Amino acid sequence: MNFHLTEEQEMLRKMVREFAENEVVPTAGDRDEKEYFDHSIFEQMAELGITGIPWPEKYGGAGANFMSYVIAVEELSRVDASIGVTLSAHVSLGSWPIYKFGTEEQKQKYLRPLAEGKKIGAFALTENGAGSDAGSLKTRAVKDGDDYLLEGNKIFITNGEVADIYIVFASTDSTKKHKGISAFIVEKGMPGFSFGKKEKKLGIRASTTVELRFDQVRVPKENLLGQEGEGFKIAMMTLDGGRNGIAAQAVGIAQGALDEALNYAKERVQFGKPIAKQQAIQFKLADMASKVEAARLLTYQAAWLEDNGLPYGKQSAMAKLMAGDIAMEVTTDAVQIFGGYGYTRDYPVERMMRDAKITQIYEGTNEIQRIVIANYLLKE
Ligand code: CAA
Ligand code: FAD
Repeated sequence: MNFHLTEEQEMLRKMVREFAENEVVPTAGDRDEKEYFDHSIFEQMAELGITGIPWPEKYGGAGANFMSYVIAVEELSRVDASIGVTLSAHVSLGSWPIYKFGTEEQKQKYLRPLAEGKKIGAFALTENGAGSDAGSLKTRAVKDGDDYLLEGNKIFITNGEVADIYIVFASTDSTKKHKGISAFIVEKGMPGFSFGKKEKKLGIRASTTVELRFDQVRVPKENLLGQEGEGFKIAMMTLDGGRNGIAAQAVGIAQGALDEALNYAKERVQFGKPIAKQQAIQFKLADMASKVEAARLLTYQAAWLEDNGLPYGKQSAMAKLMAGDIAMEVTTDAVQIFGGYGYTRDYPVERMMRDAKITQIYEGTNEIQRIVIANYLLKE
């Protein structure tokens, strides 16, 4: 067993950390406050080659692996979870299904520009009546000659209106329930495809979360991903890996909060000495650091399994469950260590605490992760 990262992975971490500190940190508070997505940050990520980290070079990727990808998401999320989820939704959810299930033509047409960061990806599964119960979705795709006509609404879609390429799940045969669901690659600008409500959120406010509307959108049959009826399986398999991207986001948020709290505790003087000299604060920091490390190990283990062609769905769900809960606990402790200042927007820990909450909710709530983990346990 080897717990060391490779030299390339250490270099990648250093590069992404420098980028995050220099280019992301300066505007993180403002983007959170005013709730806007900054396209130029995504463009810089493309220039650094991190928009297609795990994909082969022949598809425009960096030819690295999922361990490198989770390191990048972690480092971005350490300073700004909105940027972390932008990358995670783009790679794990918008690109992975094309890499895994796409034809060669679909990969060249869609995966390449996604990997190169010329286009942004998104994943549209959730609907008003189908959140945790994703198999009950109502969006329809009806065959019309060589095309499908897509009709319905999706809600809460990350990268919403800023994306260009969407993996959309719709029913092609409602009599078959989840076995009648199919996956489609939908492009921004297809007639009848528009955007609805933009959510105003508690956290990750610099990431967009938008409703998608499909009004008789004509999707050519070449844009069917996989086979008709394979959509639910594609969605579930995509989420198996995607959940580890969210685990990495949660680890990054927690590490960021720990770093902030540690620095502050060494500087803040009360009762004539830094609060870090109080054992109560030291114990809190020790617990925080231990939890972050445990969450990181689970997350890296799931990435390692995927990189080595081994089953990773259970570990990925475990990583997301643990890392999400730990991010919430550690950020709450960080605010406590900052005292009243932590509650204000003068310091980033309150943003980190607000951002952490979503990691327990999206890509399947943590209650759903327990169902997924239990399903794996019972099958084993
Ligand atoms: N891989 C392959 N196949 C799978 C699978 C997996 N991981 N999980 C389930 N399946 C298959 C099952 O084998 C079964 O196949 P058969 O019918 O052929 O036997 C079929 O799918 C149905 O399985 P279940 O009966 O277990 O399905 P269910 O309806 O009970 O739902 C669930 C299971 C795990 C709760 C699922 O609905 C789920 O994951 N819900 C949460 C939805 C979710 O995570 N949404 C995230 C949206 S994306 C997002 O949020 C983005 C973001 O954060 C940025
Ligand atoms: P519900 O399913 O209504 O759940 C409500 C509560 O009931 C939760 O606590 C849940 O855990 C619990 N519950 C439900 N069923 C069970 C059960 N069987 N057992 C125990 N407890 C249960 N979706 C996408 O498709 N693409 C995206 O890009 C995307 N991005 C998102 C970004 C944000 C900021 C948000 C808020 C959501 C996003 N989502 C996205 C949707 C997200 O995946 C769903 O919100 C999530 O899966 C939960 O669904 P729901 O909100 O309908 O909650």
